[in-house]
Amino acid sequence: KRHLVSAADLSRDDAVLILDTAEELARLADRPVKKLPTLRGRTVVNLFFEDSTRTRISFEAAAKRLSADVINFSAKGSSVSKGESLKDTALTLQAMGADAVVIRHHASGAPHRLARSEWLSGSVVNAGDGTHEHPTQALLDAFTLRRRLVGTGLRGAGADLAGRRVTVVGDILHSRVARSGVRLLHTLGAEVTLVAPPTLIPVGVGSWPCAVSYDLDAVLPKSDAVMMLRVQRERMNAAFFPTEREYSRRYGLNGDRMARMPEHAVVMHPGPMNRGMEITAEVADSPRCTAVEQVTNGVSIRMAVLYLLLGGASPDSASTVPAAT
Ligand code: CP
Repeated sequence: KRHLVSAADLSRDDAVLILDTAEELARLADRPVKKLPTLRGRTVVNLFFEDSTRTRISFEAAAKRLSADVINFSAKGSSVSKGESLKDTALTLQAMGADAVVIRHHASGAPHRLARSEWLSGSVVNAGDGTHEHPTQALLDAFTLRRRLVGTGLRGAGADLAGRRVTVVGDILHSRVARSGVRLLHTLGAEVTLVAPPTLIPVGVGSWPCAVSYDLDAVLPKSDAVMMLRVQRERMNAAFFPTEREYSRRYGLNGDRMARMPEHAVVMHPGPMNRGMEITAEVADSPRCTAVEQVTNGVSIRMAVLYLLLGGASPDSASTVPAAT
């Protein structure tokens, strides 16, 4: 496959291959010399039209650990502010020899537009588009869940998340993390339940491969993992109801609620967090919360994605990563 635009691009075997490759790459990160020569001479462009901390930095770290040259492009301070189009920006990157373009854009569908255009000859990786998708976040979340709930997988039994119950809580309406997460977790065999106030559940959720509940307290004891989502105030209009205080009271995860989860269950958050809103500091800082671990895992997942897209390895051999230099 040349691009990664949607979690729907991934079959179960594709997803397990990425998770297994990330697992091998994560093991290499424990060695004294972490860099691999795999992408030496290749150029990865981080094309960010929207703010990011974790995704941008981890793609940069991932590309550098694979010895690629990295160009960081931020729309702020670029000729985009003078009205330059996505097409002309892409043609400029093509002229500079981009082998992969990692794009975050406020417009849903922008990565898809790039991937099916003739503007770029390299791979396109979606790093989050509007309220649409964030496939590498879904992959790093699945990787984190597999490590915490199943083991390290690595082909064969236990490679996926079959039967694991994942509850996704909060602003589903605006969440590209939820859209990609539901798709990928379903592909990997997990049972997903969305929990949110009715105003933050998208129309059409009936066609998603998951259950929906409005009662967080009822779902918590039946969850192996509870993924809290940020309330995206920047994408809200007057339709946001209930109030923030009421939201926090009914849908926020605090210490009392966390105590109702099974002992083995973990709390996840993709970040950035609104502490005190969807999650209390007590929960965010507890050992059951995987938020920081998710960031670490994000580098391994993004290395695996770049490696498999650009490294030229076939699906049969790609999980054998080259030796560290
Ligand atoms: N989870 C995530 O996408 O974070 P950033 O917006 O900081 O990249």
